[in-house]
Amino acid sequence: MAEEALSIVDKRTQAAYEIPISNGTIRAMDLRQIKTGPDDFGLMTYDPAFMNTASCRSAITFIDGDKGILRYRGYPIEQLAEKCTFLEVAYLVLFGELPTEPQLKEWVSQVTHHTMLHETTKRFLEGFRYDAHPMGMLVSTVAALSTVYPEAKHVLDPNVRKLQITRLIGKMPTIAAYTYRHSLGYPYVYPDNDLSYSENFMNMLWKMMEPKYQANPVMARALDILFILHADHEQNCSANTMRAAGSSQADPFLSTAAAAAALSGPLHGGANEEVLRMLDVIGSKDKVPAYIEKVKAGQFKLMGFGHRIYKNYDPRASIIKWAADSVFEVTGRNPKLEIALELERIALEDEYFIKRKLYPNVDFYSGIIYQAMGFKPEIFTVLFAIPRTAGWLAQWQEMIQDPEQKIARPRQVFTGHMIRDFVPLEKRGMPAAAATA
Ligand code: SDX
Repeated sequence: MAEEALSIVDKRTQAAYEIPISNGTIRAMDLRQIKTGPDDFGLMTYDPAFMNTASCRSAITFIDGDKGILRYRGYPIEQLAEKCTFLEVAYLVLFGELPTEPQLKEWVSQVTHHTMLHETTKRFLEGFRYDAHPMGMLVSTVAALSTVYPEAKHVLDPNVRKLQITRLIGKMPTIAAYTYRHSLGYPYVYPDNDLSYSENFMNMLWKMMEPKYQANPVMARALDILFILHADHEQNCSANTMRAAGSSQADPFLSTAAAAAALSGPLHGGANEEVLRMLDVIGSKDKVPAYIEKVKAGQFKLMGFGHRIYKNYDPRASIIKWAADSVFEVTGRNPKLEIALELERIALEDEYFIKRKLYPNVDFYSGIIYQAMGFKPEIFTVLFAIPRTAGWLAQWQEMIQDPEQKIARPRQVFTGHMIRDFVPLEKRGMPAAAATA
């Protein structure tokens, strides 16, 4: 078999180098030896937005963007969505194996008994305006939990990590529900340990004066499937943020808050909320062609379309479309679905989108289901953050356990003034010559 290496000749010096290839990559540090002389720092790679850079080795999630494949720890997402509960999948993503029955029972019990929030959190939330965006409240509240659990900073202790992971998985739905209840001016609903993870989330969101909340099983199952689909997605923007923040040994609450902040952007997890706004702007099926022309003219992006990795259909979008049918049987068909289906139909036939390999991603249909289930668009990204907390923590723990990892600190290509003399206040704003005269 041919040697797994690159032979490089530097035409500046005629020097030759052998750079080993492993796992389809070369180590960037192997380029540092390529210099033009003793004072040369050596070659670096330049890769804005990490378009072609592997930042880590990971065994959590595998994606094949061309084939539309997504697997958590080797299990196809289609099988997990059909056969598992979210907590079962969270265990798989976090600890590497599907839990045995005793392990699952213990895990569910542990998470269930960590759903309560410290009572001071309610007063913390009261500080937000009534119309504060739930993502701003969620990011702040998750960060504030760092002050409630100071022992979390001992990130190298596996037992401390496991407890904080359990706390975060248990408390995210409670925080999310509290932000929602705050926005409506409703009293908070405490967790109900008799209910499953998704049923309890619905309970904390929607219980009113009835003695015990009864979750619609179809809706609860659809929510669990949506959580499974959003659990992890390898080195996406927010996972990268989690790894970077965690690489300084910041505690998992502060690192998760950083990751959730990254998720909130409209190009990432914030897209599901933007999709609904886009469908509202379009208004009806017959207005779709005109809207698409504006997208092609570069006026705005087609929200919920496109992906850095998937150059084929996002497998999660297909499963969400399937789950939508079961929800619509309960809630009635969301009229926005017709606009979305027409948008997809036209876009997938149009050269602009075909050439750029733009397909619906996970955010394109999720908002339509969420809205049909009674969620307001403002909370859609919070619904993404809840399950993705399992993925963020799995990536964080894998980074901490990886002997190759250390504090993330990229290099740069410097393009600024190399050096210049100070200019006194009275001489600023003058032409350079006058200023230094
Ligand atoms: C998520 O990374 C993950 O895994 C993320 C995620 C996860 O689970 O964590 O999958 C979740 O974030 C899904 C993506 C949600 N975002 C959106 O739906 C927002 C709309 N999509 C785009 O902003 C865009 O497609 C991105 C951000 C998703 C990907 O952007 P890239 O990979 O940087 O691609 P690009 O911007 O360089 O686009 C390449 C071309 C450009 O055209 P040209 O300059 O070549 O002419 O495609 C065009 C872009 O203008 N393009 C779009 C488009 N997306 C890309 N044109 C119109 N509409 C779009 N949605």
